Amino acid sequence: MKTMRLDRLISTCTGLSRSDAKTMIKKGLVSVNGNGIKRPEQKVNPLQDSVIFEGAPIEYREHTYVMLHKPAGVITATKDAEHKTVMDLVEKRYKKLSPVGRLDKDTEGLLLLTDDGNLAHRLLSPAKGVKKCYEALLDVEAGEREKKMFEEGLDIGDEKKTLPAQLKTDDKDATKVYITIQEGRYHQVKRMVEAIGGKVLYLKRLSMGSLYLDDSLGKGNFRELTKEEIQGLMNDVGL
Ligand code: URA
Repeated sequence: MKTMRLDRLISTCTGLSRSDAKTMIKKGLVSVNGNGIKRPEQKVNPLQDSVIFEGAPIEYREHTYVMLHKPAGVITATKDAEHKTVMDLVEKRYKKLSPVGRLDKDTEGLLLLTDDGNLAHRLLSPAKGVKKCYEALLDVEAGEREKKMFEEGLDIGDEKKTLPAQLKTDDKDATKVYITIQEGRYHQVKRMVEAIGGKVLYLKRLSMGSLYLDDSLGKGNFRELTKEEIQGLMNDVGL
């Protein structure tokens, strides 16, 4: 890891602007390896040097990972001339991240944003078979027959049938289902439900691999992943 300026490190890790980071450093609120440093241009190695800001250690991460609770009505894209995108929902410091896969405009739920291209690529790779679980409301009731059809794979009009998928019904309401797929084809869940003779009325992604949507995140809200969540995703794809 190359060295970087102290003000850049503080700004990257705290979300403070570069000029606010400079001010804080000049005020003497930062120490490096136990020594108070008042020079914003001081070079540090974020992986080796111990940097303390306002009494708390700065934890440097090479990549950023954000969980967004995508609401319906926004599109999964980085830019769009007409529509509001998921990137319009996050803070400025996260604007450089990219969504991992896509959710339809009317789909809600878990969307991961990151600048870690390697992880993103592996999470989306069909070879890794990372499972995605969705909650769906259907216009028909699902039962044993539909569960079996999902398990056996469905012809959704592509060259190949879908890989085995799981369908579970809610105990009280057989139109409320939980669908787990291991691929990410275009409109896959909706097309699978059409293949069993129904329609999806509402769709929400609950999980991707070991990562679950945080229940306490309201629609449109986001937060960085914890260390454990990042490690979980790395394990999911063999990194
Ligand atoms: N499957 C769909 O049909 N739509 C989504 O947004 C995600 C999975």
